[in-house]
Amino acid sequence: MTMVRDQSRQSLRTFVDEFAGAHPSDVVRVKEEVGLDYDLQAVVLELERRRRFPLLLFERVRGSETPIVANVMASRRGLAFALSVDEPGLPDTYARRLKEPIKPIVLPAAPCPVRVVRGADVDLGTLPIPLYYPGDAGRYLTAGLTVARDPDTGVETAGYHRYQVKGRDRMGVSLHSRRRMFEYQRRAEARGDNLPCAVVLGLHPAIGMGSLAYPAPEISKLEVAGGLFAEPLEVRPCETIDLAVPAWAEIVIEGEILAGAREPEGPFGEFTGYFSRRSTEHVFLARAIVMREGAWFQSIASGRAPDHILPLGVLREAEILNAVRRVIPNVRAVHVPTSGGASFTAYVSIAQTRPGEAKHAIPIVLGVDHYLKLVVVVDDDIDVFDESDVLWAIATRMQADRDLVVIGGSLGAMLDPSASADGVTAKLGIDATRPFGQAFADKLVMSPERHAWARDLVDRLGS
Ligand SMILES: Cc1cc2nc3c(=O)[nH]c(=O)nc-3n(C[C@H](O)[C@H](O)[C@H](O)COP(=O)(O)O)c2cc1C
Repeated sequence: MTMVRDQSRQSLRTFVDEFAGAHPSDVVRVKEEVGLDYDLQAVVLELERRRRFPLLLFERVRGSETPIVANVMASRRGLAFALSVDEPGLPDTYARRLKEPIKPIVLPAAPCPVRVVRGADVDLGTLPIPLYYPGDAGRYLTAGLTVARDPDTGVETAGYHRYQVKGRDRMGVSLHSRRRMFEYQRRAEARGDNLPCAVVLGLHPAIGMGSLAYPAPEISKLEVAGGLFAEPLEVRPCETIDLAVPAWAEIVIEGEILAGAREPEGPFGEFTGYFSRRSTEHVFLARAIVMREGAWFQSIASGRAPDHILPLGVLREAEILNAVRRVIPNVRAVHVPTSGGASFTAYVSIAQTRPGEAKHAIPIVLGVDHYLKLVVVVDDDIDVFDESDVLWAIATRMQADRDLVVIGGSLGAMLDPSASADGVTAKLGIDATRPFGQAFADKLVMSPERHAWARDLVDRLGS
């Protein structure tokens, strides 16, 4: 598995090389041969059980010449490194750069040697596409970033969507997040057209982080990625369709989502922690496969694996910070925990300066994204990254007849098994702050000086 650094800091290879240099124990090369049937998922699950989330390079894959990289977005440290900041700087830097999109720069061709396979020669079976969970309907591409253009406005989008391999050139795809890709396909289909798109694997994590964002409709997700790099994203033209993709991608599958075609897709082990049978059941036909020399295949473990869900939570934290800060100046911290699939739950701490701020914040947070369905607002003495602290605030500062906000019949996540089959859900906000400006019980706090003394003593005891 070559580790030659590309000339660009925007490639996955450069990221892995630099991340390994800065944090050697966070990049693990697996030299033992692994199989494609469940092995990758099992390794990620076992590491997670040990609270370890390293980037993984599987160098020897049974039956394939192509190595596999996994867990690229599995840790906050890695996501922070992708933005060239340290971990504490991640939320604010991410939030700020999301607001500073930069237009991409189009290179005349791929900046590295690529091999193109077209038409009847296309065979998805040549790629090392894994099985993740026993119970999945088949082999799945999980790290394919789909790039397409709005047929009405020409604005590009990019997003991850699961692809079930169904034949040499045929895949089922689910657009269940029902965001831009879903809408672009709907617009193309209304005209009777297929939607040309490119499925891109092997990307610097900043590009994936940009793709999850909620920019204004006239802003391309490729511009958002540029903002995250703080420089224009380098893109290259596709070989068979009129689209540009990140220039240093390892593998690009060019094709189209068919108008008017729907076929069963799934079940697949989803971010909710359940097998999902819900799907939009779209159909993708591959027209070409473009691979770098010595290409790396990328895999994202499925289900609740951090590589799958952590970037969704961190993105939501950044978007919530931006949205709430517009109207509430003293937002302290936001946590979208993995216990809520990094999608459904948000904890927000604020330093109240006016009565009613917590209740005002609730619909703003819920409006950031239709997946969010439980928001808890706490005071700034509560650590939103400590869920027991949040539960303590709910237990001791919330009164249910006064502090709950419920919105029924709202757009939600199709894959939430408690929502209706078409994804309609109820949303709950909890104001777990102390009543503003009123006397409230004093919290137990140790004197800082005795705490420091005790810390030293306990250190000396070696406990
Ligand atoms: C690893 C990963 C897998 C995802 N899988 C899907 C999927 O299968 N279908 C889907 O609609 N959204 C999926 N999502 C969420 C979308 O990628 C995300 O909402 C994206 O911003 C949508 O892009 P769009 O605005 O171009 O539609 C996934 C996200 C991640 C991080």
